[in-house]
Amino acid sequence: MDKTFYITTPIYYPSGKLTIGNSYTTVLCDAIARFHRMLGFDVFFLTGTDEHGQKISKIAKEKGISEIDHLNSIVADTKELWKELKISYDDFIRTTDERHVSSVKKIFNKLYEKGEIYKARYSGKYCIPCESFWSEGQLIDGKCPDCGRDVIDSDEECYNFKLSKYTEKIKELYRKNPNFLQPQNRVNEMLNNFLNEGLKDLCVSRKSVKWGIPVDFDPDHTIYVWIDALSNYITALGYLSEDDSLFKKFWPADVHVVGKEIVRFHSIIWPAMLMALDIPLPKTIFGHGWLLFNNEKLSKSKDAGTKEVLDPRILIENYGSDSIRNFLIGEVNFGSDGPFTQEAFLLSFNNNLANTVGNVASRTLGMAEKYVGGIIGSCGNLSDVEKTFKDEVISLKKQAIEEIKALKPTQSYNHALEILQKCNRLVDDVKPWELVKDGKEEEINTFLNLLCNAQLDAYTLLLPFLPDRVPAVFEKFGLAVPTKIDEENSFNLLKPNSKVCKGENLYSRLDVSKENEKLYKIANE
Ligand code: MSP
Repeated sequence: MDKTFYITTPIYYPSGKLTIGNSYTTVLCDAIARFHRMLGFDVFFLTGTDEHGQKISKIAKEKGISEIDHLNSIVADTKELWKELKISYDDFIRTTDERHVSSVKKIFNKLYEKGEIYKARYSGKYCIPCESFWSEGQLIDGKCPDCGRDVIDSDEECYNFKLSKYTEKIKELYRKNPNFLQPQNRVNEMLNNFLNEGLKDLCVSRKSVKWGIPVDFDPDHTIYVWIDALSNYITALGYLSEDDSLFKKFWPADVHVVGKEIVRFHSIIWPAMLMALDIPLPKTIFGHGWLLFNNEKLSKSKDAGTKEVLDPRILIENYGSDSIRNFLIGEVNFGSDGPFTQEAFLLSFNNNLANTVGNVASRTLGMAEKYVGGIIGSCGNLSDVEKTFKDEVISLKKQAIEEIKALKPTQSYNHALEILQKCNRLVDDVKPWELVKDGKEEEINTFLNLLCNAQLDAYTLLLPFLPDRVPAVFEKFGLAVPTKIDEENSFNLLKPNSKVCKGENLYSRLDVSKENEKLYKIANE
């Protein structure tokens, strides 16, 4: 296979239990990765954990356990959550993995040997939760400009990376390659906030931090956690290891998907590091927005004071993993911020999952059982309404495919849902009960055949988005779950004269106010 697709999530800080906000990047990446697999790409989907640095050390100390004991328990919990959310990663890298540690040491050595790193002294501020260096002038009201928390003073010998010499090169990269950093507003943020004033050299080692990868040639220093972490995207592929076949096959990455607050590390420091190492650059950095709770980005370390359920495990237990995927993919436009509320979550479950995804198959197959004994004949001549419907479905399918390739999963998902909404409308327009009353056997078979094939195309497009319940729909049509999305042909999945069976609705409709109350209770127990 010649088409490869390499997609990554950021590697997570294993500081505490992940919330629905933390699940955002990974769910979105998973949908994009699954879709590309179904389009025939040889996909490598990487995720993992970012385990070094002061922040992790501090948390372990507070818990009175060793760093690695703390990490192992959170990593096990994270992997369990990804399993429940049906995250189909191909590799999970931990920055404490020996394969990573040894490659990072070599990367640091290589940068030093190439004269990209030199000995210096850092004197300034440091934000532990963000693991970021700041100068006095960059602080806002004396606090970290990224997260608003307290910073500490740092004054120590260090190694510096010659980041300043990359200012113009990175500006040129953005100019020449408008797809490098997406969406476009992130480019302006980087130019206005960092590049236009000129980059400063970056401190890339810490003497005071012991929980990190030691510098090979000067073990009193550990490697700055962001240099360590960013390298995961190539160490996971075996860069500078004995077996670098994955690196040769998959690098450069097609896309690094990251939250907007870490775009600067990925679109400034990372390309500069790669340029310094003479490695090709990733094709795209996509900076998505935040899931907001009471207008704030809630993550593990900062509580936005919401009284709603934020633990994805509770939502999965009550409504299944598709419920979370539906909300994150469908309701928050990829690239923008979007609010999360329990009520919006429950309403979206009903609209998209129960009333659309579940209902269309139930309604269609109920009619098939009633009108033709569950055996659908072939497709004859289409009426004008049916012809228009067919053209619209083909065009929506094309759009959904193009949109995923253009990293627009929200639009792609909603266009797949729109096919199902159109199916519902076609039933109202054609009024098959009247065809039955008039004994129009050929017309009723044509109508059912068309309706089934349209929804089967939609359900196939929905598999990457809703991998928990949607596979079950194919059985109702006597079909195996498709593994590919056919870009060329449509309306050809239903087997002639096969027996279909309505069975149970994929998703049952929820009583929103009752469920909302129940969730409030759980959240505030
Ligand atoms: N460890 C760094 C990444 C290193 S990558 C070389 C990190 N970790 S994190 O655990 O803090 O965040 C991981 C991802 O979760 C980021 O992309 C972040 O934006 C995302 N999210 C955390 N809370 C979020 C929301 N409320 N909404 C959307 N995404 C959020 O940063």
